[in-house]
Order: sequence, then C-alpha cells, then structure tokens
Amino acid sequence: MTTDVDELFQAAKAVQAKAHAPYSRFRVGAAIRTASGRVFSGCNVENAAYPQGFCAEASAIAAMVTAGEREIVEVLTVAEGDELATSCGGCRQKIREFAGPGALIHAAGPGGVRRTFTLEELLPFSFGPENLG
Ligand code: THU
Repeated sequence: MTTDVDELFQAAKAVQAKAHAPYSRFRVGAAIRTASGRVFSGCNVENAAYPQGFCAEASAIAAMVTAGEREIVEVLTVAEGDELATSCGGCRQKIREFAGPGALIHAAGPGGVRRTFTLEELLPFSFGPENLG
C-alpha cells in the first residue's frame, strides 16, 4: 500500500534526479502537500554565481504558488549522503510563510524518511505574516 508519505517521497525522488547541482554535487528534491491534497515538487537549481542558486524547497514553493495554492500541510525533502539533512534556515522561513506550526517536515535520505519534525520544532518563535497585521 502506498502511504501519503510514500507519495511525497516518490515525488521528491523523481525531481531530485533533475537537480542542477554541478557545484555542490548535492542533489535535493522537495515535495509539498497542500491543504487541497495536491502535491508540488521542486529540485535545487545552482548557479555559477553561487549565491544565485536556490534550494529544492524554494522551487517546490514556487510551483505551488504558481498553481494558485498557498496552504502547506506537509513537506518532504530528500537529500544524498549518510547524514540527516534538514531544510536550511532560509527554507524553514520560506515554508513558514505558507504553513502553520503543526505542519510536518519529513527529512529523507536515499532509503526513505529519517526523521519527521513539526515546523514549530524547526523554527520556534518564528516571524510570519501575522506579525505584519
Ligand atoms: N539545499 C537545498 O536544496 N535545500 C536545503 O534545505 C539545504 C540545501 C541545496 C542548496 C545547494 O544547491 C545544495 O543543497 C548544497 O548546499
């Protein structure tokens, strides 16, 4: 049986293979499930002018917003290597824009999910749209 998390993992793996990561050689895929149940995915896209590259999460968020969706309920990232790789600080804040504190963030490696966090755990006491009134 395919679970919801499996679906995200497969979607993230599929786009991880398309990552443009010639500089770090660290391919990342991200998949987002929105409140409507749709899944959006994206990979990291690096640039010869290094700071211009962007993370897989940013690509997936751009796909989601482009499709007219704005409510993230779950995110899964898949990265290479033996170490647990969680979303970088900048991506935590990007996710925060569209997700509540209870949104689940799954950090996967090549074999599947290694750990699951809530957004609140990864980004406590965060700043968000509500702060601007
Ligand atoms: N990367 C992501 O795509 N997501 C993260 O949250 C962490 C890092 C990418 C950025 C860069 O292309 C490569 O991984 C190495 O840092």
